[in-house]
Amino acid sequence: MANKNLNAAKEAKKDEFYTQLEDINNELRHYREHFRGKTVLCNCDDPRVSNFFTYFAYNFEFLGLKRLITTCYKNQDMDLFSQNKSEQAIYLIYDGDKNGNNIPDPEEIGIHPLKGDGDFRSRECIELLKQADIVVTNPPFSLFREYVAQLMKYEKKFLIIGHQNAVCYKEIFPLIMSNKIWLGYGFKGGAGHFISKYEDTATAGDHREGMIRVSGVHWFTNLEIKKRHEDIILYKHYTPEEYPHYVNYDAIEVSKTADIPCDYDGAMGVPITFLDKYNPDQFEILGIGLELADMSIIRQRMGKLNGGPRLYIEKDGELVRLYERILIRKKQ
Ligand SMILES: C[S@@+](CC[C@H](N)C(=O)[O-])C[C@H]1O[C@@H](n2cnc3c(N)ncnc32)[C@H](O)[C@@H]1O
Repeated sequence: MANKNLNAAKEAKKDEFYTQLEDINNELRHYREHFRGKTVLCNCDDPRVSNFFTYFAYNFEFLGLKRLITTCYKNQDMDLFSQNKSEQAIYLIYDGDKNGNNIPDPEEIGIHPLKGDGDFRSRECIELLKQADIVVTNPPFSLFREYVAQLMKYEKKFLIIGHQNAVCYKEIFPLIMSNKIWLGYGFKGGAGHFISKYEDTATAGDHREGMIRVSGVHWFTNLEIKKRHEDIILYKHYTPEEYPHYVNYDAIEVSKTADIPCDYDGAMGVPITFLDKYNPDQFEILGIGLELADMSIIRQRMGKLNGGPRLYIEKDGELVRLYERILIRKKQ
């Protein structure tokens, strides 16, 4: 249900949903050591509504930051979101507490106008990006590919929110495969509640007033975290009955990450949620089903294709099209 929200957001470029302070806190507590002496940029963040700004301004001394820069996009959706009626795009600079009260007072925050609309891709915003050591935000999902490409181009460290399906994007997957990006700790239950005026399609039990529930959201980062070096405990043993071989790629199907067999050394296909547990010292990533699947075999057997490239298994004489799979192999 909640994916409907996300798909709708992507289609209509409905990017106005705001991250809760609690979720920022929950993730950022694992990264504290990275921030000492660093300039942080939040470049999709209206300081009046962004909890990223609040988090870094109020934790400035605790984290030992050097500078906080926040840019505010002059939103085009003004009629829809009154709280974001910015007439002028601006950027803020905060260099920490000066009067000893440990609170970011208005007079301690420098507010500067931007010439353009505050688009993260604009020249003036790129100049601010160049000054930053670490970028932390929830960027517009509709521009996720471009957003990540820019971070990579300027070789920035980052911690950003995106949808887990983005791992399959042809621009993103190679970065994951080559260990240039990985998933952070993530949201409880794999779903986040974001402050928004969009209609929430979550079931009654999951609904929170003034919020939308988005399933499959995750944190993407290139900052080192402990989790990334923790092995998945493998306890299952391989049998050809439990782990069928794909019809159109030389690997076995493992439908749950927890079921990866401890005694199989060949290629295995796992759901994309595997990346949440991926430890590059334990496994290597060989590729993704949509690129590796040999669809000529399927076309030959079925006479036609039902959708894009995917891995298939055979069950009771029928070909079964699987969800997207990531191909992995145990490291020796
Ligand atoms: C998913 S919201 C998150 C807002 C905020 N970072 C937070 O987490 O609370 C993405 C924000 O990016 C802004 N935005 C959209 N296109 C942008 C662009 N090209 N450059 C900068 N910001 C943009 C939207 O106005 C929106 O407020």
